[in-house]
Amino acid sequence: APAAEPASAAASVAAAPPPPPAKVYVVGTDAAYAPFESQNDKGEIVGFDIDVVSAIAQKGGFEVKFINTPWEGIFNTLTQGDRDLVVSAVTITEERKQTMDFSTPYFDAYQLIAVKTNSKVTKFSDLKKLKVGVQNGTTGDEVVTKLQGKSSANIKRFESTPLALKELEAGGVDAVVADNGVIVNYVANNSNNQFKTVTDKEFAPEQYGIAFKKGNTELVEKFSKGLADIKADGTYDSIYKKYFGE
Ligand code: ARG
Repeated sequence: APAAEPASAAASVAAAPPPPPAKVYVVGTDAAYAPFESQNDKGEIVGFDIDVVSAIAQKGGFEVKFINTPWEGIFNTLTQGDRDLVVSAVTITEERKQTMDFSTPYFDAYQLIAVKTNSKVTKFSDLKKLKVGVQNGTTGDEVVTKLQGKSSANIKRFESTPLALKELEAGGVDAVVADNGVIVNYVANNSNNQFKTVTDKEFAPEQYGIAFKKGNTELVEKFSKGLADIKADGTYDSIYKKYFGE
């Protein structure tokens, strides 16, 4: 009888384990903050922040999955472990650094005021007694709260920045204070030149960082290194140009 085919060689090839699936990091973002993060007509999450984090992932050989997450409570999703990171035009502040960790900064920003074109507002202190719309819990909220006082009834806090801007359109507030990129984008895309922007040298420079659960040093370093890599190879610059021009 012919010798039995040695089964072991074939079997060991068939049994070769598949490569481990690439790690997928879950990214929280409040996708109502164009041009940093928003939803397009197809419901896809798009924007500057999305491109930056996607480029870091591609360069690093891992995957990311973006989940639209309300700003209210967005940082709790890190503590709870529902999100591995948050990219949401998040300003790095001393207060936030107490409860979460940040990547190296990836974008410079400052506050900007949007008012109707016929508004007499020319500086931030003009907002002292006016109705001002902000997104609840943002740095815009912080500066207006500082100007008017915590218990001011003239601060209208909204869940999202688009809702605050809608209220400006409707005349329910006299001004909206939010990050410059978002205000500029809104005013530029709004028809009939209804709005103008007012800046003020009082506004402190801000920097955006990617946020992580406190103590997640491995991930912080991974993304900070990724940022350095996409800056070094020109990817960051081309993303910047795509959204903000030269
Ligand atoms: N930079 C501001 C902050 O950190 C506003 C960010 C709001 N981001 C958003 N996707 N709604 O407070």
